[in-house]
Amino acid sequence: MKRVFSGIQPTGDLHIGNYLGAIRNWVKIGEQIGKDAIFCIVDYHAITIPHDRELLGRLTFDAALANMAAGLDPNKIVLFAQSHVPEHLELGWVFSTQTPLGELERMTQFKDKSEQHSVLAGLLMYPVLQAADILLYKADTVPVGEDQIQHIELTREIARRFNAKFSPENPVFPEPKASIDKSAARVPGLDNSGKMSKSKNNTLELLEPQAALWDKIRVAPTDPARVRRNDPGTPEKCVIFSYHKLFSNLDTIQEVDVGCRTAGIGCIDCKKLLMVGLMETLEPIQARAAHFQAHPHEVTDALVAGAEHCQKIARETMLEVRDAIGLLRPNSIRPVIQ
Ligand code: AMP
Ligand code: TRP
Repeated sequence: MKRVFSGIQPTGDLHIGNYLGAIRNWVKIGEQIGKDAIFCIVDYHAITIPHDRELLGRLTFDAALANMAAGLDPNKIVLFAQSHVPEHLELGWVFSTQTPLGELERMTQFKDKSEQHSVLAGLLMYPVLQAADILLYKADTVPVGEDQIQHIELTREIARRFNAKFSPENPVFPEPKASIDKSAARVPGLDNSGKMSKSKNNTLELLEPQAALWDKIRVAPTDPARVRRNDPGTPEKCVIFSYHKLFSNLDTIQEVDVGCRTAGIGCIDCKKLLMVGLMETLEPIQARAAHFQAHPHEVTDALVAGAEHCQKIARETMLEVRDAIGLLRPNSIRPVIQ
């Protein structure tokens, strides 16, 4: 793991799926490799579906704040906003000219999103821009949730093709690998309908007050077999139990496991126990968020410093890329082809 890159869209409040599936892992990596860990709020990705111009800037700031609250320390790692380093778009364009349309049309995220929204050309190009994000910094490792594996595979393909075509002797790009935290690769949504996701409205948000979290958890469906308090249930069928496994200590997990199977405890008791473990994780995050809300300059300063750091790397990569594909250098007369 020499250089790590990952990104997150500024599409609203971060939820525990983002935290457990991605950000928590980012924090760990940052402890190991410092400034070679680069994290990006991908605002240009966010406009591939219709967006609100009044909100985009605010959401980008909020996403940076929430990531810092979740433990990303910009003094240790690099945090920046994608649009502050325009080379992402330049490399994205180059890659788009080298990527067969069919490969993009096959992406499952594209297929899903194009059922929900009218298809903009940018939505199809989304994974090309993602490949540019990663390869601009020559990252070899990309910590993401399971849903991003296909995009990282495409990134490898784009790198491989570019190297083979334009720099076979001295490859410009590495072939990066996805790094998945297996313990929380796919955090289920509160409605137990599948993945937790902002668009499905089934989230527990990192910065939600305890009372609001409880309101959601209190009414969340559990194992349907537990109609009455003394009906026994199967923990594996209950989304609350899967959260216990993510947030509670081993004793509590054991207690609710047995309690559920024997009807020893009711679902409300089980949910109250979940609140304890959940708040143990969320309270320090929420306290840090309150600090940054009172000191917003700490967030904007981090983004400015992050963009400056990234810009240097990005410029160098683009010099190599432009040369590799054979563009005319500014202020130079192209040697006549012999
Ligand atoms: P997104 O909000 O889609 O930009 O996702 C940001 C990061 O969180 C990506 O690495 C996703 O793979 C990860 N992620 C999003 N939802 C979940 C989930 N329910 N479980 C695990 N990881 C997730
Ligand atoms: N597509 C990613 C997601 O939805 C976000 C993203 C954009 C990303 N660029 C990236 C993730 C580069 C990793 C690396 O979660």
